Amino acid sequence: MPLPPLLLLLGSLGPFCPGALAGPAEAVDAVELDFATERPVRLVSPAFLSFTIDANLATDPRFLTFLGSSKLRTLARGLSPAYLRFGGTKTDFLIFDPKKKPTLEERSYWQSQVNQDVCKSGSIPSDVEKSLQLEWPFQEQLLLREQYQKKFKNSTFSNSSVDMLYNFANCSGLDLIFGLNALLRTADLQWNSSNAQLLLDYCSSKSYNISWELGNEPNSFRKKSGIFIDGAQLGEDFVELHKLLENSSFKNAKLCGPDVGQPRGKTLKMLRSFLMTGGEVIDSVTWHHYYLNGRIATKEDFLNPNVLDTFISSAQTTLQVVEEIRPHKKVWLGETSSAYGGGAPLLSNTFAAGFMWLDKLGLSARMGIEVVMRQVFFGAGNYHLVDKNFKPLPKLVGTTVLMAKVKGPDKSKLRVYLHCTNINQYKEGDLTLYALNLHNVTKRLQLPHRFFDKQVDKYLVKPFGPDGLLSQTVQLNGQTLKMVDDQTLPALTEKPLRPGSSLGLPAFSYGFFVIRNAKVAACI
Ligand SMILES: *[C@@H]1O[C@H](CO)[C@@H](O)[C@H](O)[C@H]1NC(C)=O
Ligand SMILES: *[C@@H]1O[C@H](CO)[C@@H](O)[C@H](O)[C@H]1NC(C)=O
Ligand SMILES: *[C@@H]1O[C@H](CO)[C@@H](O)[C@H](O)[C@H]1NC(C)=O
Ligand SMILES: *[C@@H]1O[C@H](CO)[C@@H](O)[C@H](O)[C@H]1NC(C)=O
Ligand SMILES: *[C@@H]1O[C@H](CO)[C@@H](O)[C@H](O)[C@H]1NC(C)=O
Ligand SMILES: *[C@@H]1O[C@H](CO)[C@@H](O)[C@H](O)[C@H]1NC(C)=O
Ligand SMILES: *[C@@H]1O[C@H](CO)[C@@H](O)[C@H](O)[C@H]1NC(C)=O
Repeated sequence: MPLPPLLLLLGSLGPFCPGALAGPAEAVDAVELDFATERPVRLVSPAFLSFTIDANLATDPRFLTFLGSSKLRTLARGLSPAYLRFGGTKTDFLIFDPKKKPTLEERSYWQSQVNQDVCKSGSIPSDVEKSLQLEWPFQEQLLLREQYQKKFKNSTFSNSSVDMLYNFANCSGLDLIFGLNALLRTADLQWNSSNAQLLLDYCSSKSYNISWELGNEPNSFRKKSGIFIDGAQLGEDFVELHKLLENSSFKNAKLCGPDVGQPRGKTLKMLRSFLMTGGEVIDSVTWHHYYLNGRIATKEDFLNPNVLDTFISSAQTTLQVVEEIRPHKKVWLGETSSAYGGGAPLLSNTFAAGFMWLDKLGLSARMGIEVVMRQVFFGAGNYHLVDKNFKPLPKLVGTTVLMAKVKGPDKSKLRVYLHCTNINQYKEGDLTLYALNLHNVTKRLQLPHRFFDKQVDKYLVKPFGPDGLLSQTVQLNGQTLKMVDDQTLPALTEKPLRPGSSLGLPAFSYGFFVIRNAKVAACI
């Protein structure tokens, strides 16, 4: 089975104190590692690393035409196999209108593709794209304002909007998950499924293969809309949606939910009652996680191991509740990033945020979360994966999860994760270690003795430019990562280390180490 590459958002690694990197006077600490490789601890999905497009992109459907950009598609293809979730607060304010006509921009998108393979054709005409790009910052401001003020307007979307979204996903090799509006309600507060039925009918007529969700963060419906729906009712609404799917071409489609926020207090209560009435009909339980409020988060927060550790208790709570009420049901992070509220300006899109992202992936895989959906691939706010500075690192991490530990007392600032290697580039039985160093000195990692004679390929990510940790440009093994052109992702070149050498990890950096010919039976 081919294992997927994982991709990472990389910003910059900067010396926290100028000159701290590789300086002659720099302190260096050796650290021994302990591996447990007898058996896998977990198996994650081939689509473990997935991502989202915020539903607010459909607020003004003209901006959906950005999805025709060949650069965006190249980046998305680099992330496949993955789920593409279309959701967010706007999910519950979008209404499908099959009578709505496409905008001028959408028409030019489709015209540019007439008589061509829909996936191979160009994109939107460049003059249209340029003028939309000029307008985009204003649209972004508008969307962020809506979010801060928690006042949302309904918008309608057309056949053409659905087509553009599906086309982007399908042509990039991604599985689309579409969030249906859960705030359409009858007088007695049951879900009114008539609009969803229209959309299902349309998607069936086009033979689209889509997975579904219903509602986004229903725990804060009251704040967003004045309507309160309890978990039990929401569960029944999912049962109703499941019936619609059963009676359609979506019989085998996945249904995910309830996309609640972090499980504490009333949200935890809602998750429990939802699972009791609706848990049976869903394929995976989705929850959302952000570490920080983007408006007050600091650089120190982004590097604080205590902040990173807060994820553990949230994940444990969720996994425990699911195991108790719906044993063996899969758990997914349905939407997640560093900071909520559109991200933290000048932080969420820098290398500083890479620590949170990588650590969350490592912890999630180890704790048994099967899929992690990164908010957002493209859209408003500061945490998008794709902007002019986007740098992907297709990776080396396979779906089988093993255990690695740092020996000795201080574990929180040096964080290590171990998987079987993705065999696209390597051999079965190889191992990939990934490690984050939040110390202000270089750490030298020493592999367990039995791997001393193995060759190791290093993939070390370092900063580039004067902005240090806040830089948006990074180097991999000394080479700046950027797209070669709109169709070509950068090559990722390993640096082979001599067998037996320690693995140097500079202050405030992270890296990946492939242990070749490891011949670990659990990875074969
Ligand atoms: C949308 O699709 C439906 C079903 O194919 C069709 O009946 C309707 O005319 C389409 N709407 C527009 C505006 O073309
Ligand atoms: C959105 O439309 C639905 C259905 O017409 C309506 O019940 C709801 O009040 C509207 N919400 C807003 C914010 O206008
Ligand atoms: C559901 O919504 C549709 C469209 O707005 C409306 O025509 C219908 O009467 C509603 N059904 C109920 C039971 O409220
Ligand atoms: C999905 O994409 C493939 C090519 O990757 C294409 O052949 C197929 O027709 C597309 N499916 C739909 C429903 O558009
Ligand atoms: C639909 O997509 C799912 C992945 O979400 C895949 O497992 C399934 O085979 C697809 N079905 C069809 C008919 O292509
Ligand atoms: C199933 O779908 C068909 C057509 O799509 C519809 O006529 C029928 O009423 C549906 N049955 C149920 C039980 O919803
Ligand atoms: C490194 O951090 C320690 C505290 O953990 C501090 O005492 C020391 O001054 C720092 N060194 C540098 C070079 O910043």
